[in-house]
Amino acid sequence: MDISLLASLPSLGIGAADLAAAFLFMYGLHRMASPVTASSGVFVAGIGMAVAVLASFLYAFDVDSAARPQLWVNIGLAVVALALGGCVAWWAGHKVAMTAMPQMVAIYNGMGGGAAGAIASVELFGAKTDGVTALVVTLLGGVIGAVSLSGSLIAWAKLDGVIKKPLRFKGQQVVNGLVLLATLTVGAAIVAAGEGALALPLSTAAAIYLFFGLALVVGILMTLPIGGADMPVVISIFNACTGLAVGLEGFVLQNPTLMIAGMLVGAAGLLLTLLMAKAMNRSVSNVVFSNFGETSKHKPSKIKGELKPTQPGDAGIAMRYVASAIIVPGYGLAVSQGQGKLFEFVKLLQAGGVSVKFAVHPVAGRMPGQMDVLLAEAGVPYDMIFQLEDINDDFKTTDVTLVIGANDVVNPAARTDKASPIYGMPILNADQAKQVFVVKRGDGKGYAGIVNALFYGDNCNMVYGDAQAVLIKMIEAVRGLGLPAAA
Ligand code: TAP
Repeated sequence: MDISLLASLPSLGIGAADLAAAFLFMYGLHRMASPVTASSGVFVAGIGMAVAVLASFLYAFDVDSAARPQLWVNIGLAVVALALGGCVAWWAGHKVAMTAMPQMVAIYNGMGGGAAGAIASVELFGAKTDGVTALVVTLLGGVIGAVSLSGSLIAWAKLDGVIKKPLRFKGQQVVNGLVLLATLTVGAAIVAAGEGALALPLSTAAAIYLFFGLALVVGILMTLPIGGADMPVVISIFNACTGLAVGLEGFVLQNPTLMIAGMLVGAAGLLLTLLMAKAMNRSVSNVVFSNFGETSKHKPSKIKGELKPTQPGDAGIAMRYVASAIIVPGYGLAVSQGQGKLFEFVKLLQAGGVSVKFAVHPVAGRMPGQMDVLLAEAGVPYDMIFQLEDINDDFKTTDVTLVIGANDVVNPAARTDKASPIYGMPILNADQAKQVFVVKRGDGKGYAGIVNALFYGDNCNMVYGDAQAVLIKMIEAVRGLGLPAAA
């Protein structure tokens, strides 16, 4: 075989793998757009990642033979790191509870930002960047990656309850602005020194350490004042940052897979942030700079009516005798892990001839798609699950709405109370059904920390208890009627 052809095989392989990985990422993302194809989309994107990782080993064959011994050492280290990381991720993925998913996403996102920062530091410390553009792009990717790393770790700590309260002090935003300015100034000084236009008062290595140290502090300071409840949106913002940082470092390394993957993650994170903010009727700056819920000064308009408790068994039996029911799941269902029992109850109703649909609000729960995943986990067929815009008109012609562990997403204040922090947020019209049953443990507020007038409505009864425990009693009561067994 022609020697020159043999020598060009690694770079041909790298090119082909880059193309395949980019295609698999995009196709996987496309499949994630629908709950029906989402899990296969994750699988396809995972294969893309495996292709990209394996392709990186081909670089070892694309260098001078003199550099190969060192590369074999590096490859050995990479294999050890991959094996360790893969095992930890496999174990953590199996172990994580559905309600702890946001924390896990925060950690993984932080790792992505850290990886981009690490690439930048290797380039900077090794003085590998060639030209002012490459240096600026490396530093930009480095600062964004480092901010994303430390910010995501703080987000994880808040979601996991390690940090319990937001840290706020007077003049905080000025301090944050000054630290960011200092970071950018050190970065600019590194560029100027690299071009010979400035003599640094400290060594280049010390300046690089200072640059990354300050960037990490920016991420911490930015995230500390934000309330734990806003963390999912903040993680999504950091996700967009991580993507951008990875894309920039891909540009530095001239690695197309990193560039494409980074831009995909960046764009997806940005879109998700905007969608979440829109579904909560808040601006992104409101999330980052104000303290929603926890310090809400909102005084609810006087609520008429009273809370009317009822027993789980009575609610279950009442639902058995209606023609139509809509179930609205919320965060509390995820907390109680009652999805399996919920579907068991629904199957009993269906066996008795009740038409049942599920109504899912775009921000029900604490992370995008959480309710869809929960219901899919229980085996609920996708054609029973309806999104807000597709089902909202059906409530007024429905006999019973069962609100289970949901609160804000069915709060009519979003329609009527202009002073409410959730005013303008699209909500599910649960209150318009003839009868509403609300399952929750007590007087706990939702994420927005406000009272819900729905619970006091003439057509509403409260069923107190943990969602799963309540469902078990509802199932027992319906089974006790001795009606046809569920399929
Ligand atoms: P929430 O408004 O948070 O209400 C959940 C309710 O579940 C609480 O009132 C709580 O009352 C009840 N609950 C908790 N544990 C329970 C259990 N074990 N059994 C039964 N009930 C339980 O939930 P939601 O209606 O799903 O609304 C989501 C909120 O989160 C929205 O305000 C949304 O803007 C916000 N948010 C969502 C996202 C995404 S992307 N999904 C991201 C950020 C913020 P008790 O304590 O009395 O039981």
